[in-house]
Amino acid sequence: MSGKIAAFHDFEPIQDDFRTAVLNGLSSPQKSIPSKFFYDEKGSGLFDRICHLEEYYPTRTELGILQKYGKEIAHFTGERTHLIEFGSGSSTKIQTLLDAINKPLSYIPMDISKEHLLEAAKNLAARFPEIPVIAICADYTSDFQFPALVPGKRTGFFPGSTIGNFAPKEAADFLKQTRQLLNGGNLLIGVDLVKDHNVLFQAYNDQEGVTAQFNLNILARCNAELSANFVIDNFEHHAPYNETQNRIEMHLVSKTDQIVSVGGNTFSFKAGESIHTENSYKYTIEGFQKLASDAGYKSSKAWIDEQSLFSVHFLSSSEEPS
Ligand code: AVJ
Repeated sequence: MSGKIAAFHDFEPIQDDFRTAVLNGLSSPQKSIPSKFFYDEKGSGLFDRICHLEEYYPTRTELGILQKYGKEIAHFTGERTHLIEFGSGSSTKIQTLLDAINKPLSYIPMDISKEHLLEAAKNLAARFPEIPVIAICADYTSDFQFPALVPGKRTGFFPGSTIGNFAPKEAADFLKQTRQLLNGGNLLIGVDLVKDHNVLFQAYNDQEGVTAQFNLNILARCNAELSANFVIDNFEHHAPYNETQNRIEMHLVSKTDQIVSVGGNTFSFKAGESIHTENSYKYTIEGFQKLASDAGYKSSKAWIDEQSLFSVHFLSSSEEPS
């Protein structure tokens, strides 16, 4: 069988301007760079390595939940559903889900990166030749015209606790937006849990220093793409857990007083001053269910691993399965 993609919808997404974001972010009192810019080719490779680290429990734990409860999850989604993935991420997770659902109406990955999307879509199509794969190249956080689908329920899939990159208010807005796209359907979403602070700390401060490299790589990206002159060794990775906000914060801390130029603009750093690069919010089950309900969803079910590290939620915008 061929690995043919049933349809490809290229909405020519406008990539958010890296230069504007960096110049704006570095001009604020608390300097910052948005975390979505971590994922250039080098950064995506480093993130992949993070997912395999002993200390980084989310990836394997979520996969374990999908494997263990696949049949139960499939009971909630139903078989005759379109499965829409926000971001075409880990192929292992989606394959586990597609196996469990048996034969959904279609698999619809959405991603802003065309290469990433098409590769993931082709792999999936080769593995599941009977499932129509409709690849949508779009920024799912922006407005775009969703293609017409054959009639059927829609189930969204948003794994990896990527929702944790949003502040709670933005997360609720995002969930509201997905409800419209899902057209009265349901959302299966992975959410990292509040836990022992040491476990959280280790997950973002691994022994091998892969997360540090991932964080520092954003400066290398500035150098390469924005003709900046960051001396990477003059910054260090810092990822504390902020207890009051329930989030891991990633920062790049300046080791010395220094001046950096970014595309002709200069920025001065005091020793100890940081660039805030990421928030990764952690939730309690009840806390996330409250957020989901604020966004108009009903929490039908939450699956958790035995150590209560991670959760997968089934949120419905309409009725429950009988
Ligand atoms: C992809 C956003 C879920 O927050 O755990 C991993 C990114 N940053 N290590 C996370 C990340 C540092 C990851 N998310």
